[in-house]
Formats: sequence, structure tokens, C-alpha cells
Amino acid sequence: MTTLSAQVVFATITGNNEAVADIIVEKLKAAGVDVTKKEMAQSEPEELQDVDIAFLVPYTYDEGSLPDEVLDYFDDLKDLDLSNLVYGIAGSGDNFYEGYYCLALDKFEEQMQTTGARRVADLVRVNLYPAKRDEVKLAGLVDAAVEAAK
Ligand SMILES: Cc1cc2nc3c(=O)[nH]c(=O)nc-3n(C[C@H](O)[C@H](O)[C@H](O)COP(=O)(O)O)c2cc1C
Repeated sequence: MTTLSAQVVFATITGNNEAVADIIVEKLKAAGVDVTKKEMAQSEPEELQDVDIAFLVPYTYDEGSLPDEVLDYFDDLKDLDLSNLVYGIAGSGDNFYEGYYCLALDKFEEQMQTTGARRVADLVRVNLYPAKRDEVKLAGLVDAAVEAAK
């Protein structure tokens, strides 16, 4: 059996989304997946053409906005052919923002739908720093991705 590969890309200001990314990385490693973790602003979406599994982990800003530093990444995703990719989307926001809570995740989901990639499970919204129950949800997301990519 060949080893599966994954990339986890995240955006963060205060560290919560890197903590979410780290949990995903840890679960992937435990499943025997070869994984790289990168800041979205330091990576190109084309890199996703070289892996089996991707996880996108952005924070949400100003009334449901994407982080400024990921706008290029986001735009470049559009219409890329990622038909061999399975992916999951997770991220930390703050439920104080109610109707705007974690909206960056929904925006990424919409953009990923233009690429032909296959989402494996529901978006995982994390309120601020990931708690134990979030870790359980993230483990489920990773399991679903690994299963789908096999
Ligand atoms: C000015 C400002 C605006 C924000 N707007 C939103 C928002 O619209 N929706 C949301 O879910 N979270 C919002 N947040 C909360 C952050 O997304 C949340 O604190 C998140 O955990 C930050 O992630 P990070 O620690 O990885 O930077 C906002 C935070 C700040 C400081």
C-alpha cells in the first residue's frame, strides 16, 4: 500500500487556527499519513495537486471576511483542477459574531467546489481555542479523509 500524503494550510493571528492545524497534523501522523503544514500566505494552491488530502484552516475576520493575507491563495484556487483531491475544512472563529461565525469556512467551501475536489465531511467550526470536543470532531474529519483517500 502506498503512503498517503496531505497538506494542512492555515491562517492565524493569535494562534487558535494553528492549534487546530496542529491537531489535524497530529491525527494524520497517527494514521501514517505523510503530512506538511504551511501558512496559507506562504503557499500556493497548486501544491494541492501533489497531495491526496488537504485541510484548509482559516480564521474569520471583520464581519465574516477572509483574512487579507489569504486573498491571493483564495482567488488562485478558483477553477484549479483538484479532481484527485479529498479535503476537509475546519477553523476557529468566535461565536460572539453570531451570523458571521466562521464564515471564512463557508467561503472556502464554495471556492473548493469550483475545483472538482471532494469534501469528505461537514465543516468543523471551532469557537476560539480548540477544546476536547473539538479534538474529537477533528479526529472524525481526519478519519473520514483518510478513508476516502484510500
Ligand atoms: C476585528 C476582529 C473581527 C473578527 N470577526 C469575526 C467574524 O466575523 N466571525 C468570526 O467567527 N470570528 C471573528 N473574529 C474572531 C476570530 O476569528 C477568532 O478570535 C479566531 O479564533 C482567531 O483565530 P487565530 O487565533 O488563529 O488568529 C474576529 C476577531 C477580530 C479581532
